[in-house]
Amino acid sequence: MKLTELRVNQVETPMGFQITPLSFSWKVVEAGEAKRQKWAGIRIWRNAGQEKEKIFDSGQDENADSLDYQVSLDLAPRTRYTWQVQVTADNGETARAESWFETGKGQEAWSGHWITADMGADTPAVLQRRFTVAGLEGVRKAAGAVASRLYICGLGMYEVYLNGEKVGSEYLAPGYHSYDFHLQAQTYDVTEYLREGENEIRIWLGDGWFRGRLGFDGGYTNLYGDRCYAIAELYVGEEPVPVVMTDADWESKESPVVFSNIYDGEVYDANLEAALQVSEGWKGVRTEIPDRCGDLCDRYSLPIVKKETFPVAEVIHTPKNETVLDFGQELTGWVEFTGCLPRGMQIRLTASEIMQDGCFYHENLRTAKTEFTYISDGKERTVRPHFTFYGFRYMKVEYLDQDGAPLETASEFWALPAAAFTAYHLRSDFDQIGEIRTGSDKVNRLFLNALWGQKDNFLDVPTDCPQRDERLGWTGDAQIFSETACYNMYMPAFYRKYLWDMRAEQSILGGSVPNVVPRLKEGMVAEHGSCPWADAGVVIPWNVYLHYGSKMLLRECYPGMRDWVECERRREEALGGPHLIKDGFHFADWLALDNEQPGPFGATDPLYIASAYYYRCAKSVAEAAAVLGYEEDRKKFDGLAEKILAAIQEKYFDQEGLCICHTQTGAALAIAFGLIPERAGTKLEGAALRARVEANDMHLNTGFVGTTILSQALTATGSHETAVSLLLGEDFPGWLYSVNLGATTIWERWDSVLPDGRISPEGMNSLNHYSYGSIEAWMYRDVCGIRPGEAGYRRAVIEPHVDARLKFAEGRLNTSAGLFKSGWEYADDGTVTYRVEVPFNAEAEFVLEGERRILPAGNYAFVHKEKSRQ
Ligand code: BGC
Repeated sequence: MKLTELRVNQVETPMGFQITPLSFSWKVVEAGEAKRQKWAGIRIWRNAGQEKEKIFDSGQDENADSLDYQVSLDLAPRTRYTWQVQVTADNGETARAESWFETGKGQEAWSGHWITADMGADTPAVLQRRFTVAGLEGVRKAAGAVASRLYICGLGMYEVYLNGEKVGSEYLAPGYHSYDFHLQAQTYDVTEYLREGENEIRIWLGDGWFRGRLGFDGGYTNLYGDRCYAIAELYVGEEPVPVVMTDADWESKESPVVFSNIYDGEVYDANLEAALQVSEGWKGVRTEIPDRCGDLCDRYSLPIVKKETFPVAEVIHTPKNETVLDFGQELTGWVEFTGCLPRGMQIRLTASEIMQDGCFYHENLRTAKTEFTYISDGKERTVRPHFTFYGFRYMKVEYLDQDGAPLETASEFWALPAAAFTAYHLRSDFDQIGEIRTGSDKVNRLFLNALWGQKDNFLDVPTDCPQRDERLGWTGDAQIFSETACYNMYMPAFYRKYLWDMRAEQSILGGSVPNVVPRLKEGMVAEHGSCPWADAGVVIPWNVYLHYGSKMLLRECYPGMRDWVECERRREEALGGPHLIKDGFHFADWLALDNEQPGPFGATDPLYIASAYYYRCAKSVAEAAAVLGYEEDRKKFDGLAEKILAAIQEKYFDQEGLCICHTQTGAALAIAFGLIPERAGTKLEGAALRARVEANDMHLNTGFVGTTILSQALTATGSHETAVSLLLGEDFPGWLYSVNLGATTIWERWDSVLPDGRISPEGMNSLNHYSYGSIEAWMYRDVCGIRPGEAGYRRAVIEPHVDARLKFAEGRLNTSAGLFKSGWEYADDGTVTYRVEVPFNAEAEFVLEGERRILPAGNYAFVHKEKSRQ
């Protein structure tokens, strides 16, 4: 028996994260014969120098919850704590493990000042300060204590260097958050970067999301601020005051990153590096507080890090004489290269998602230039962007002379070989927990494509797409993908941050949820209250609770959930009549194909969809209130949900109990959201849904709303075979259509690329939109059959659905309660073998052809003859 994944507030060994309230979690693996936890205990010490002071001991707690063990403690700022968990199992076996967490500055006042370069706001700057350190040897020996720490925040983005070395492995810090409400500070361990005596700290600043261009339609400028700033404090050892902090004594100089923004990329002039090495020519800094910004606080964001590496898969020389590098996978991140180009020569990389007629193409990225230009100083270097990122599979490589005129490269000695280039995938630092494999290679590729949709669009904010002039935290896209996201990856800390921003934005919108979070505050993107975008305010936290079982997180999110439903209630009540959504702009079934009118809006009545979501959200708030023991709220929202449901049934269902919105989405919503009047049961609606799919030549025609629930609704009403037929659909509109056309991610539109490989001429057309990747939730919950029976999977329901066309399916899900596996396989004689694995201290309710049995921790196999084949 072993303990792993020791986490504090869903992060392993968090340093400087927001950890109030405080919650611990852990997992038991390799449990052998042990089935259940008998008791667990937690002890916590505060580290002071080499001493440890015990501040908490739970004793043997028989009710200790490994998903969410909350401890109430007053934590000191900038302090390391050690914690230990011990678990004893029913068979007497015991295991113990230790970990740590460390607080950031918390509520402690900053002695550093915000500083900004004493230069024009549009001149990117490097800020610097020299300082002396003494007695480092002793500090390094003080194991366990907070050795040397840097507390820092930069606006828009920063990179910090100590003695020429970049501090830490994170990029694009401090990330993208609602800067006008709060600013996240980062904590770095800098013990190894410091030297005895003279030291130099430099902070490089770039616009990032904070200032400059952001938003679509050409973008807006300076949405959050109009200058770049930094604030920092560096502490050595136990010294109570910083050895260096930002103040008026810092200096500034022009940065080699002469231009950068999120959409257009970056220009790096290496010739400016030499100037940074001389002490002349430095200008001063100004101390001033960035206006329009919130207060500093400990970070919520996971760091953005390099997660995967891709070498060049192919060098393409195009008919237009272009050189294009193909990395074989559409990814979010950047390309780095190592080499030496003649002084003054420029190399320009331009990102793209797709080739057209064998040539480079990136018009679908609209106004985003997506370039990286490096101006050489004649030295050998490894080069990378700093304050931007790209969504790409291809990079065009061009060499330019000093004046920017293109150079022929064919046989030039300086042209870099393919091996000089490497693509790095960057995203927030969360890991995969789920995986599905089937007997169909194409379905397996589809699974990977959706997984990549998630990897590529979770860079601090869940974005619509990572490449064109948008990359925004669209709440609708995030909402419909959230169930799948929670299956695929360990997401609670990531969503905690997004929902923290969301609640901040709600606080000035009367509880309403904006179209994008962080909010852009100008134009259509600034608007709010649109279904099912705004419903992200309830659906995401509820999915996070169901999948990870953290009551602490649910309690934190609850005010935002409640406020959105309250906001809807106030608005619809003011209009009088039954409890329904009666007005407003709703994206509704965005991009559905069932509307005869041209445009992005689906045919299903948006007010029906909005009312359905209103009901679902009211119900989830009631359930959340029940979990949290808010009895009054539970009653209130249960009552409201009942009334909404009755009103929906009255208005949107006919005599027979069938939904009057005769679309695939209309029926799927009725089934998946439980809207059908009791008198009818789900059979009729299920049959209507199947008939609509069949009448559409066995194709779906759903948009954002319908696609997410269509397969689930079919399986739930006995039409699993139809759902699998849709899954295996190879032509437009179908799941495998894009796979057949070589997609490595999920597209925004069912026909983003036409059968002849030409990109569809629509202006809004990305090849990396995760929304339709939401099919994966169905693959986990219905094909492999794993779903939470209890929040956090202490009890799972395992109800697989087989289909001979897939031959087999295997699902692995490393839930918060442990690793579940569920799979099935057909033998030649038609028998199906089901295999299930249930982790320590958990159980599964295994459902097969209506029969239920409870499976405690262990491995199981069942051989079955399919009824239809008997
Ligand atoms: C985005 C979407 C988003 C939509 C809403 C698009 O431009 O890419 O995914 O949700 O706008 O209008």
